[in-house]
Amino acid sequence: MTSPSTNNATRPSPAAIASSKAHHRTAPHHMAIIMDGNGRWAEERGLPRSEGHRAGYENIRGVVEQLGRAGVRYVTLFAFSTENWDRPSEEVSSILALASEVIKVETKELHRKNVRILHVGRSDRLPAELQSEIVQAMELTRENTGLTLCVAFDYGGRTEIVQAVRSIVEEGLPSEEVTEESFASRLLTREIPDPDLIIRTGGEFRISNFLLWQSAYAEFYSAPVNWPDFKDSRIDCALDEYGRRERRFGRVR
Ligand code: FPP
Repeated sequence: MTSPSTNNATRPSPAAIASSKAHHRTAPHHMAIIMDGNGRWAEERGLPRSEGHRAGYENIRGVVEQLGRAGVRYVTLFAFSTENWDRPSEEVSSILALASEVIKVETKELHRKNVRILHVGRSDRLPAELQSEIVQAMELTRENTGLTLCVAFDYGGRTEIVQAVRSIVEEGLPSEEVTEESFASRLLTREIPDPDLIIRTGGEFRISNFLLWQSAYAEFYSAPVNWPDFKDSRIDCALDEYGRRERRFGRVR
């Protein structure tokens, strides 16, 4: 008979139980997140919006770690859209500065954790220093085989689609060779699978020009909390809800 002490020694810790439960769920292979509500989070606390973005940044590491433990292999974060340039210049500057800080502070640790970093979006309008930091982070982590963290920055789905059409026209591709596959291979996301689950925080239900082509069969989930508060049980709720969805991809069951 097992003695109580042996029993205690072999009993998994609560963290291990939580982690093993997470592994038994059907986790989305690729989760894409519209990190909305940073401004509201700040305003509710009487803080400048830039503090909301900083709180948003500080939430990212925990979310990515939790998703990794749950079995998610690709995480795409919508950090700055092609339309966000129209925000007040101080806010745009604060997000650009924060993006530089994120790369400087986080890249080494992400590399140590075998995370591959990808950028999707335009680079040409970003400050030169940020452009080179992005290139260096992608180069450093290119061969990593763990989770892929894809950051959509100066990204817009329509711009991406127009760019793909342009490249097809410029290459003179015969019309019969314009297929879903050849088109998708000209999108910025060509290296990653389509998202299985798109989450928008901040309680909104809009896609806002995010992964327009790629989201064709994604499940959508709106989280009723602002991005800086999307953590722990809120993430579990989203994963549980995804696990209950029946995905038919246009077929019948
Ligand atoms: C949307 O909230 C959030 C943004 C436009 C910026 C998100 C940026 C970060 C979290 C930091 C940078 C991160 C990386 C990975 C480079 P909102 O301002 O629209 O919120 P609101 O709807 O409440 O106004």
